[in-house]
Amino acid sequence: MNMTAQAHAKINLHLAVGPLRSDGYHHLQSLFARLELADVITVDIEEGPFSVVVEGLGGVCEPGTDTMSRAARLWHEASGWDGRLTVSIEKNIPVQSGLGGGSSDAASLLSLLNTIKPLPEDRLHQIATRVGSDVPFFLFGGNAAIVEGRGERVTPIASRPLGVLLVMPRDFAVSTAEAYAHLDRLRAHETPRFIDPARLVDIYNKSCPMWVDSLYNDFYPTVAELPLYQRLNALGDGLEGYATISGSGACWYIVSEDDSCIREAEKSVQDHVGDRVVCWQSRLL
Ligand code: C5P
Repeated sequence: MNMTAQAHAKINLHLAVGPLRSDGYHHLQSLFARLELADVITVDIEEGPFSVVVEGLGGVCEPGTDTMSRAARLWHEASGWDGRLTVSIEKNIPVQSGLGGGSSDAASLLSLLNTIKPLPEDRLHQIATRVGSDVPFFLFGGNAAIVEGRGERVTPIASRPLGVLLVMPRDFAVSTAEAYAHLDRLRAHETPRFIDPARLVDIYNKSCPMWVDSLYNDFYPTVAELPLYQRLNALGDGLEGYATISGSGACWYIVSEDDSCIREAEKSVQDHVGDRVVCWQSRLL
């Protein structure tokens, strides 16, 4: 048997990080939005005892430690299903970009596996959270959601199909755990600010250039000193959109309801820093 699924990327339109918890994670309040940009996963299933092999990750991590292998093993333990899984992935989402590729890959694989032998939703949710904090959004968040707790509390909201330019540095990527540690050092004495969730939705429904008055990404200060991001922000300042980094970086984006703004942003980025970045035009779903 052979099954295929797309695993879409996300951007965080808002990301407020609370204090470090005793379990090593941080409380979050975020607005996640799903992108058209996607990895493609194909799963081949043969009879036999349980095993999982993932092909196509090209040395991103040690074999067997990737998010899809971990998700498949947890699903097997919970469902008792046996079989030999070979997962092939066409990787289009850059790694360590803050676009959620690894989490989305795992979520898409779990959805496919769950069609073979469905688990109760709360069990699937538990597995998703064990694989990674962003995985519940990809399984249960629809195209846009408010995400809270460690990432496990997901409230879908009506999405807006906006244009996006994604800009990924060629020689700079970000480890999530290191970015959180960097953030803790930067703001040891600050009190985090969370917005009332209903207000967050109201702001999201306003025009993108107005978001800058209320939305923010707490990780932005962790890259703000780097000349490339200063340059990108200066380019974004003159445009009718909202620009910041996604997740803990390294991807910078600008989102707008005006497609000509996205085209203009791409031209400007290519003209000024084109040798140091890779750009994609995409859309929020
Ligand atoms: O859950 P995930 O494996 O994606 O998290 C990677 C790392 O990011 C964690 O080990 C932790 O250091 C940090 N993290 C955090 N608080 C969160 C999510 C992630 O501190 N809510």
